[in-house]
Amino acid sequence: MGDRAAEPRWLELRLPSRPENVGVARVAVAAFAAQLPFTLSELEEIKVAVSEAVTNAVVHGYGHGRGVVTIRAGHDGRRLWVEVADSGRGIADIEQARQPAFSTDPERMGMGFAFMEAFMDQVDVESAPGAGTTVRLYKRPRPKEQASSPDEPAAGDPAAGAPNGGAPPSSQLEAAAGRGDGSGSADAGAAR
Ligand SMILES: Nc1ncnc2c1ncn2[C@@H]1O[C@H](COP(=O)(O)OP(=O)(O)OP(=O)(O)O)[C@@H](O)[C@H]1O
Ligand SMILES: [Mg+2]
Repeated sequence: MGDRAAEPRWLELRLPSRPENVGVARVAVAAFAAQLPFTLSELEEIKVAVSEAVTNAVVHGYGHGRGVVTIRAGHDGRRLWVEVADSGRGIADIEQARQPAFSTDPERMGMGFAFMEAFMDQVDVESAPGAGTTVRLYKRPRPKEQASSPDEPAAGDPAAGAPNGGAPPSSQLEAAAGRGDGSGSADAGAAR
């Protein structure tokens, strides 16, 4: 039984490249991530990061065309990893693409990677033109004794419903609100 608890846990989703599936991915990954002691704010951060990666696959990878976005997630009881992969057009210059405010689309803000970097511990990008893109996101629950607001409950904590329990403290998170949730950035400019 002890061994069973140590078994790695994982999730795999294959979704058609459609803006509305950004919301499916973010909710599924957040539900999976809640197996670790993330706070509600941290789960919100994970949702934003996943939304940005999936939105990029839909918008840039497949250019709003057909394709499959594969989302994998896993954890070892300590650290969450999430992989978002497309087999779309790929990125020519990854370093440039990761710069805040860089976008190949003048209609966009170029902030997707910046949000992923801000909200996750580590972001790895593997991509080549014509070969698709894989983004890997890593995050550990913040050690609770080092938490800046020690009263903030974990998502599974019954006290999570308490006032302020789920209030994202970060102004970046506020700035990210509404992005990539299927009604936000993935839809911007979508031909519908
Ligand atoms: N999956 C992908 N496939 C191909 N190109 C990508 C992919 N993800 C990102 N890119 C490229 O990297 C650039 C930067 O991505 P980023 O998410 O930071 O900004 P954006 O998507 O352009 O704007 P925003 O996310 O603010 O709407 C994109 O403009 C695009 O050229
Ligand atoms: Mg983006």
